[in-house]
Amino acid sequence: MTNVIEIENLNLWYGDHQALKDITIPIKGNKVTALIGPSGCGKSTLIRCINRMNDLVDSCRVEGSMMFHGENIYGPDTDVIKVRKKIGMIFQKPNPFPMSIRDNITYGPKIHGVEDEDELERIVVDSLKKAALWEEVEDRLDSSAMALSGGQQQRLCIARTLSVSPEIILMDEPTSALDPIATAKIEELIDTLVKEFTVVIVTHNMQQASRISDYTGFMYLGEMIEFSKTEKLFTRPSEQLTERYITGRFG
Ligand SMILES: Nc1ncnc2c1ncn2[C@@H]1O[C@H](COP(=O)(O)OP(=O)(O)OP(=O)(O)O)[C@@H](O)[C@H]1O
Ligand SMILES: [Mg+2]
Repeated sequence: MTNVIEIENLNLWYGDHQALKDITIPIKGNKVTALIGPSGCGKSTLIRCINRMNDLVDSCRVEGSMMFHGENIYGPDTDVIKVRKKIGMIFQKPNPFPMSIRDNITYGPKIHGVEDEDELERIVVDSLKKAALWEEVEDRLDSSAMALSGGQQQRLCIARTLSVSPEIILMDEPTSALDPIATAKIEELIDTLVKEFTVVIVTHNMQQASRISDYTGFMYLGEMIEFSKTEKLFTRPSEQLTERYITGRFG
């Protein structure tokens, strides 16, 4: 399986606080990669590096490389808008735009120059179907997205990300604000999405990581302590720190 992203010797500072230390991991295509570790270890920082969301933080400085199709995302000539189109992001709290369900989906494609009404309609249907939301909203596409339940809003945000044809979907604790049923739906959806996309997910929930991911990275104090196939990491970890964390002895 090819690596869609290769993160190499990535170091990141917020001012003089080093939040990521020499991270080197591959992100495999059409697989789910989970990032776990105690609060403050750098999971969100790392996942936000993948589509350069940390650029928005003034004090942030990055060294090292993040190769995506042979191009360094941190190279001088990188088109950040293009990177964020190819690498979408879902956050902990569902954040639909305060507009209709349909407009949430067409917003991105319109910005990227899609004008044809039939094409936009096709994108709406296709994105909602892929996000497993179509059947619940097909008769109310013009009502407000804010009236959806939390779980539906999160799937709408996933549909909105899919509307611009990304390759990678980053998810930072996408289910931690949801109830168990809505969580199960998102987990099931992730399982389908990896057939077509690559997923990187941050989760606090180790059961979730072991259920849905193919690869897991365990982080501690800004370092990638262990990165391996999920089954191995949870059953035969190589590092004592990993074992202590997954058996609940700290964190
Ligand atoms: N915008 C920022 N400015 C300065 N420091 C930051 C910023 N964001 C994060 N940090 C610091 O970087 C470190 C890593 O934070 P990060 O949010 O990546 O951790 P996390 O693993 O996602 O934690 P959590 O599980 O609580 O979400 C922490 O020490 C945090 O205080
Ligand atoms: Mg976080």
